[in-house]
Amino acid sequence: MSCIKSINGEIKIPGDKSISHRAAIISAIAEGNVIINNFLFSDDCINTIEILKKLGVDIKKIGDNLVVQGCGIENFREPDDVLYVGNSGTTLRLMCGVLSATNFLSVLTGDKSINSRPMSRIIEPLSCMGANITGRDKNKKAPVIISGNNGLKGMVFKTDISSAQVKSCLVLAGLYADSITEIIQPAISRDHTERMLEYFGANIKYDGRHTIIYPGHRLEGKNLFIPGDLSSAAYFVVASLILKDSAVIIKNIGMNPTRSRFIEVLKDMGANIEIKNPRMLNNEQVADIESRTSNLEGINIDSNIIPNIIDEIPVLCAAAAFAHGSTIISGAGELRFKESDRIKSVSAQFKNAGVNILEKEDGFIIKGNSGLRIKGGSFECYGDHRIAMSLAVLGLRSEEHFFIDNFECVDTSFPSFKYELKKALGDKY
Ligand code: S3P
Repeated sequence: MSCIKSINGEIKIPGDKSISHRAAIISAIAEGNVIINNFLFSDDCINTIEILKKLGVDIKKIGDNLVVQGCGIENFREPDDVLYVGNSGTTLRLMCGVLSATNFLSVLTGDKSINSRPMSRIIEPLSCMGANITGRDKNKKAPVIISGNNGLKGMVFKTDISSAQVKSCLVLAGLYADSITEIIQPAISRDHTERMLEYFGANIKYDGRHTIIYPGHRLEGKNLFIPGDLSSAAYFVVASLILKDSAVIIKNIGMNPTRSRFIEVLKDMGANIEIKNPRMLNNEQVADIESRTSNLEGINIDSNIIPNIIDEIPVLCAAAAFAHGSTIISGAGELRFKESDRIKSVSAQFKNAGVNILEKEDGFIIKGNSGLRIKGGSFECYGDHRIAMSLAVLGLRSEEHFFIDNFECVDTSFPSFKYELKKALGDKY
C-alpha cells in the first residue's frame, strides 16, 4: 500500500442530518415540549430551525440540546418574510408537505444549487392532493409559492423515483388529508419519517416500498436522541480502509437498515469492519463501528440498493479507486440531481487526481489499483459538501500538496470534519 498517512482512534461523528431535520419539523407539528439531544447544528439543519421560528414555533438551542415547544400546525402563523432553505433539499421538500396543509401564504427559496434542483416531483403530487402550490420554470423549480388551502385529499401515489424526500413530503401532507395517503416507490428509500411519526403516535404503516398514513391522529412529542450520521462516519470508515496501519472506532451511529447497506457493500468488498453493541433508540437502530486497514476487491453494485447508499456513493468511489479490480455502479442517475451533479463532479475531480474512472449516464466504472498514487493539485468541490469530504479522503493517499477549493461547504453537514480528521491523523494533515 503506497501511502504515508494513517488514521487512528475514536472519531466523534455529529448527529444524523436526515433525522435532525425530521426531529425539528415533527416536534414542531406535534404537541408538547421535546428535548432533542445530539441534534446536528450544521448549516442545513439551522435553516430548518430558522424557518420554524419564522412560522412562530418556539424552538431554541439550550446548552447542547435543541428544545422545541410543539404547537401543531394550527398554531403556525404566516411568515412575514421568504423562507430560506439554503442548500437543503430536505428542508424544502419536507416543509412544502407541511405548509401545503396551512391556510396562509409561504414562499420558499434557496441557494443557486437548490433553485436548480427538480421540484416538480413534489409540486405535482401536492397539487393532486389539492395544495395551492406553484414553482418557477412552469412548476419545475424553486422558489416555490404555497397559498392558503381549503383541505387536502388523501391519494394513492405510485412514484417512478425512490426518494425519501418526496415520500416524506407526501406523508407529512397526508397527516392533514381527508382520507388515507398511500405511497408506493420502485425501491426502498430511508424511513426515518415513518419511524419518528410512529414513535410520536401517528397511525402509519410502512413496509419496504409501501407507506400508508391514516390522518387525524394526535402527535405527542417525546424527547429524542439523534444517532450519529452514518453518511458522515462513511468518510472515516473509508479512510481507515485505504490507509496503512489504521483503525478507528465510531460510536452511536445510526444503523437503520434503509441506510446501513453501505457497510454491507464495503464488507462485500473485503473491508475489515465490525459492528458492535447494536441497540434501538427512539425507534431507530444504533451501533458502534470499528474499521481498519483492508485489502479491497472491486464490486458490481445492485441498482436496487442505490437509494440506500445514495449519499455514500462519492466516498465509495474513493474506496473503489484502491480496490483490486473494477467497481461498477449503475442505476444511480439520481446523483445528477443532488447538491451538485455528483456523477460529473466525482468523475471530473477523481480523474484529475489520477483515478481510472469512467463517467456513465447513470453511474461509474472504476478500475481500482491498491498501489494507486494520487496526484496533488487544486481540486473543485462545486460547493457540494459530500464531494469536498470524498476528495479529502482521496487526498489522504496523495504525497503531494492536495488543495480543495471552497472546503467550508462541509459545514452543510459536518462542521467538525477537519478537526476530527486532524485529530485522527495525529495533526499530520
Ligand atoms: C434525504 C434523502 C435522500 C438523500 C438526502 C437526504 C432525506 O434524498 O440524498 O441527502 O433526508 O430524506 P432522496 O431520497 O430524496 O433522493
